[in-house]
Parts: sequence; C-alpha cells; structure tokens
Amino acid sequence: HAADAHRTDLMTITRFVLNEQSKHPESRGDFTILLNHIVLGCKFVCSAVNKAGLAKLIGLAGETNVQGEEQKKLDVLSNEVFVKALVSSGRTSILVSEEDEEAIFVEPSKRGKYCVVFDPLDGSSNIDCGVSIGTIFGIYVVKDGIEPALHDVLQPGKNMVAAGYCMYGSSCTFVLSTGTGVHGFTLDPSLGEFILTHPDIQIPKKGKIYSVNEGNAKNWDGPTAKYVEKCKYPTDGSSPKSLRYIGSMVADVHRTLLYGGIFLYPADKKSPNGKLRVLYEVFPMSFLMEQAGGQSFTGKERALDLVPNKIHERSPIFLGSYDDVEEIKTLYAAEG
Ligand code: AHG
Ligand code: MN
Ligand code: MN
Ligand code: MN
Repeated sequence: HAADAHRTDLMTITRFVLNEQSKHPESRGDFTILLNHIVLGCKFVCSAVNKAGLAKLIGLAGETNVQGEEQKKLDVLSNEVFVKALVSSGRTSILVSEEDEEAIFVEPSKRGKYCVVFDPLDGSSNIDCGVSIGTIFGIYVVKDGIEPALHDVLQPGKNMVAAGYCMYGSSCTFVLSTGTGVHGFTLDPSLGEFILTHPDIQIPKKGKIYSVNEGNAKNWDGPTAKYVEKCKYPTDGSSPKSLRYIGSMVADVHRTLLYGGIFLYPADKKSPNGKLRVLYEVFPMSFLMEQAGGQSFTGKERALDLVPNKIHERSPIFLGSYDDVEEIKTLYAAEG
C-alpha cells in the first residue's frame, strides 16, 4: 500500500524540521521553535490575503515606508503579525523588515540566538488585482558577543543558516532551505498544516524563460541589454526564450525554481543599484537558488558574497538556471 502511505504518513513541515534537527544532537530545538513561529505568521497572512477583498483589507494604509512606497493595509498588517510572532518565539535578537526603517532589537528577556530579515509582503502592488504575492525571510545566527548589534545582520548572505518564502497564490506554498537542499510544502487548509509536496527541488540547468521588466529597457547597461537581445534574437540558431514577468518576486522566483530560466532585476540609469533589497529579497532567493543547483550574480560578484553596509541596501540581481546566469556573467566580464 505504498500509494496510500503518503496519506497516513503525513510529512508536515514541523516533522520535517524535527528530522533535520535530529541530525544535530547538540541542538536544543531553537530553530524548530523559530520556524514554527514563522509558519504561524504565514498561515495568518495566507488567511488575511485570501479574505482581503471581503475584509476591506485592500487599498492603501495611508502611510509611506522607508522605501518611499505607499504602504498597503496588508503590508502593515503582515509586518505586525511577523514582528509579534518572531518576538514571541523568544528565539530572536534582531529583526529587519522592509516595512521598518530601523532594525528591531528584541528586549533582553525575550532574546534568542537568531536574527531574521524579512519582507512581510512581497509584490504588494499586485494585492488589489489578486495576483500572487508572498513573504520572504532569511535567518542568521548572532555573532558571539554580549549585546546584539547591527553587525549581526550586516553579514554576507553566505552566512545565512536558512532562507525561504511563502507564496499566497492559487495554493499557499512554503519553500525552505536549511542548507541541505530546497523543499516545498503546500498548506492543507483542512488540516492547517504545510505538507511536503516538493522534496529536494532542483532547478533545471538551463531554461527557456527570461523574466525582466522590459519597461526599463531604455535605461539598461550594455551587458543586460545584450543578454536580453540574445534571449529574443538568438544568434546560435536556437529558438527565442519566452518572457514571463509577474512583478511579484516570490511568484517570478518560484516559477524560475520549478521551470528553470533566469530572473533579472538589473541596475539601470535611474536606479544604479537596481530595486531589490539585499537582506530580505536578494539574499534569501540567492540562497535558495544555490541550494537548488542554480546561481545568483549581482553583475559584479556572487550575490551571497556581498557584504551589506545598510539594512535596506539594494543590489542588481541575476538569478536562476546555472547555465543561463553563466551567460550573463560572461557578458559582464567582457565589459571589464
Ligand atoms: P515589495 O512589494 O515587497 O515592495 O517588492 C516588490 C518588488 C518585487 O516583488 C518585484 O520583483 C519588483 O518589486 C517588481 O518591480 P517593478 O514593478 O519595478 O518591475
Ligand atoms: Mn514594498
Ligand atoms: Mn519585496
Ligand atoms: Mn514587501
């Protein structure tokens, strides 16, 4: 009855992480507790997003965030949910959120050994039209030292111990890596549990899709313009790539992870560092891509090698199938 086994042997995300934890006998289960609180936040946001239209949760919150963006009601609500869930876990010392100008230092009595950087709601511009949006997070361990300080979160992405996202789309999908591959879980609303549905996701070595906002083409630099030109008018006799751009990073990256291809948010004349934020968009997605056999490049270096100086710093990003990113690296190297 192997076929039925999966129906009775439910591999929930909690069991999955406990299995991982059992490989580290010295661990006291702190990570499992932290992850459970992140999962709780995602379940709450999933339900709020699904009810947004009905619960008058669409539209603007009337505030502007440090990014200079008008905050949506769901941006603010999601941020509050995650900050509260993470602080109450008792396993974090510093939080960095896209929606908070300053890093949040957790009060001493509730401190733990982790720092969490997160984008509580990614793709906010798509909320009101019902297109998939998501939450992105990355987890560092605080450097040993008495008081937590900003240097604990201004670490290169390669120091992350875990990263993931939750996509609120036709189904609620949680994708996670703790450094041993990438695994996808789907929320079963009747159980309120995330069930393992995509074990050990491997991104195809090469893809047929490129994903970029062509509306910025006028301002691109040479190598980006050349690469996109090659996607549309291949010179090696291969067929042109397809363009797929949703405008929600979580949705564009999830498709890239499963189908292959390349996602680009390049620098342009207006934004020399591109648009995506290093700590809670570029690093977590780059961590996942490398863990799935792909790669991620900033136009200058491996994305995970970047050392951020500010918590809301931005960087250009080219991530996805190994061979596709290799091509753009060659074009940037040729530019010298
Ligand atoms: P956020 O909604 O968290 O501010 O992020 C939006 C980002 C990202 O989701 C997406 O890839 C990008 O903005 C789209 O930007 P453009 O609309 O400029 O293409
Ligand atoms: Mn935003
Ligand atoms: Mn975002
Ligand atoms: Mn956001």
